[in-house]
Amino acid sequence: MKQLQTKPQNGLRGELTVPGDKSISHRGIMFGAISEGRTILHHFLTAEDCLSTLKAFQQLGVPIRRDGQTVTIDGVGLHGLKQPTRPLEMGNSGTTTRLMMGLLAGQNFKTTLVGDASLSKRPMKRVSEPLAEMGADIETTAGHLPVTINGSQLHAVDYHLKVASAQVKSALILAALQADKTSIFVEKQPTRNHTEIMLRAFGANIECEPDDVTITVHPDPKLEGLTLNVPGDMSSAAFFMTAASLVPDSEVKLLNVGVNETRTGLMSILEQMGGKVSISNLQYGGESTADITVNSANLIPIEIGAKDIPAVIDELPLVALLAAKANGISKITGAGELRVKETDRIAVIVTEFKKLGIAIKALPDGFIIDGSKPWQVKDSHLDSHGDHRIGMVMAIAALLVDKPLTLDGADSVNISYPEFFADLATLL
Ligand code: S3P
Repeated sequence: MKQLQTKPQNGLRGELTVPGDKSISHRGIMFGAISEGRTILHHFLTAEDCLSTLKAFQQLGVPIRRDGQTVTIDGVGLHGLKQPTRPLEMGNSGTTTRLMMGLLAGQNFKTTLVGDASLSKRPMKRVSEPLAEMGADIETTAGHLPVTINGSQLHAVDYHLKVASAQVKSALILAALQADKTSIFVEKQPTRNHTEIMLRAFGANIECEPDDVTITVHPDPKLEGLTLNVPGDMSSAAFFMTAASLVPDSEVKLLNVGVNETRTGLMSILEQMGGKVSISNLQYGGESTADITVNSANLIPIEIGAKDIPAVIDELPLVALLAAKANGISKITGAGELRVKETDRIAVIVTEFKKLGIAIKALPDGFIIDGSKPWQVKDSHLDSHGDHRIGMVMAIAALLVDKPLTLDGADSVNISYPEFFADLATLL
């Protein structure tokens, strides 16, 4: 149980470099592993989820060394992975599991993937079913982990995705690299495009149409290792962007944050709510970065729906918190995917926000929140429910409360942001 910092005396002030992007760190290991030659990742995210990916590829016979946040991978090529001697442990990481399913479906050996209790409840058929259309032989446990992948020769497909999910899309792209012909995938909605951008940088022949949803993947690329600086994670910066907006007299500058436009939903939502956000030092590249400065502001309510969700999927708990301090009623819909994250984030947010007396109601696919009502603490024992992003959002909510509060399961921040509490302390 952790004692949380409640209402600070002064605003939050300072500059922070947040840890490396989780999605890009995972992919850096995976794509480096299946390339020829050496890949070096700087500012790699050394959190539990990405370490699950690193260890899994070591077990697949890939030489990988880590020195702090620098990782060196001696790639074995697309056909050089080796059968592991025991099941691969995915820990809590959905990204590792789903991308791994696509990659291992086309290898010439059998692998079993296992995970922790939370991951073992998350749906895997969304990946195994489309992969089966490509000829993959994957056994799930009633749609969940443990999953056994009997590697086989894959066929090309022309497939329309049924869920807006970058993990599913990425699994299919990794399978398509190993298929007999060119595959075409059409997304339901554009989702984060790190796989497409990064695989192209490693040498893959992937075309993305201007409609932002059609992706053509040519098989059997010659992938070559490269050196990559992982940008700061927008999803981690988002906690401090929210905190700076809500805690009066704040000014926080977040340095070198990834601003890929498939990830910047929170910035546009904050702007629409009257938030004060500005960017500087914009560095264009495959994955662009910028410094983001946020000042406190009085916020107005917002309505967001399905089309807005993918670019802010991991930040929706923070949007709910912003709404809980905006001067009116906000509505978030089209976010049913929140129910199948590390926890059912709709249910868990409502439970935890109600402890603070926030006027929030669950919808099947989102929330209604009345931010005009004052908060009133009803239960001072908050709980992360083992979900890293819930633990961190409740720690930010605590900054707006003037009674002592505790957090159970605070260790869950280690999944994506082990330095979270230390970084927050530097802004006080
Ligand atoms: C991720 C995709 C998203 C996101 C997750 C990371 C990725 O999941 O929520 O944190 O790296 O591809 P879905 O694909 O399930 O939406």
